[in-house]
Amino acid sequence: MRYETFKTEQEASQAVATRIAELVSANPRIRLGLPTGSTPLGVYKELIRQHQAGLSFSEAVTFNLDEYLGLSGAHPQSYRYFMETNFFQHIDLPTWNRHLLDGVARYPELECQAYETKIQAQGGINLWFLGIGGNGHIAFNEPGSEVNSRTRIVSLTTETIEANSDGRFFKDPAEVPRCALSVGIGAIREADEIIVLALGEKKADAVFNAIQGPFDISCPASLLQDHANVTFYLDEAAASKLTRA
Ligand code: F6R
Repeated sequence: MRYETFKTEQEASQAVATRIAELVSANPRIRLGLPTGSTPLGVYKELIRQHQAGLSFSEAVTFNLDEYLGLSGAHPQSYRYFMETNFFQHIDLPTWNRHLLDGVARYPELECQAYETKIQAQGGINLWFLGIGGNGHIAFNEPGSEVNSRTRIVSLTTETIEANSDGRFFKDPAEVPRCALSVGIGAIREADEIIVLALGEKKADAVFNAIQGPFDISCPASLLQDHANVTFYLDEAAASKLTRA
């Protein structure tokens, strides 16, 4: 897996935004896979700035990685709400091209299968842009997730519940849904290109395990090691445990 290290969070985010903008300009009908969380905020800000300077998403199609089970898109902590407020409302991506798993679907298993069918019907994902959890999770594929796992209902680990209730999103672990709908690792691996952005010291162990540890389900991000086109974009803190070749 390739990785690039940048001095600051801003520089790493800027580099990811530049790569996404390049791909959107080259292929306006791009199918983009997107994350939520703290990590992508700088990238979305920069893409909004580039949109104001002329970059258009009017033909792009997006699919998000995950959604909390039980939260509707109107809930301020739902990932639908996050995407609308932090990105979609500020660009010209048509509403009908914005795809997210529905956390209140009547039949969540069917919702997951239908989501994969929608991705296939669009021709697959050109680029999945991912964050990474402190325990190495990608999307909500927690340690133990299989390399060929599909989009499904998953249980969140205590570590993830605590990370997401540190005040950035939820204020109390009791408020965090225990389950989510998540695109599987098998589905992520089918993309032409994968970008993982990791920022800050809290991600340093996960980054080390993903890039220089074994290919193993204990670190879900390591299951991208044999993909032909994965790049990690890191700030210095996130790269601090990597040993140089
Ligand atoms: C969210 C997602 C998660 C996050 C990860 C890191 O859509 O897929 O895998 O990328 O939990 O979250 P932050 O960026 O908040 O540290």
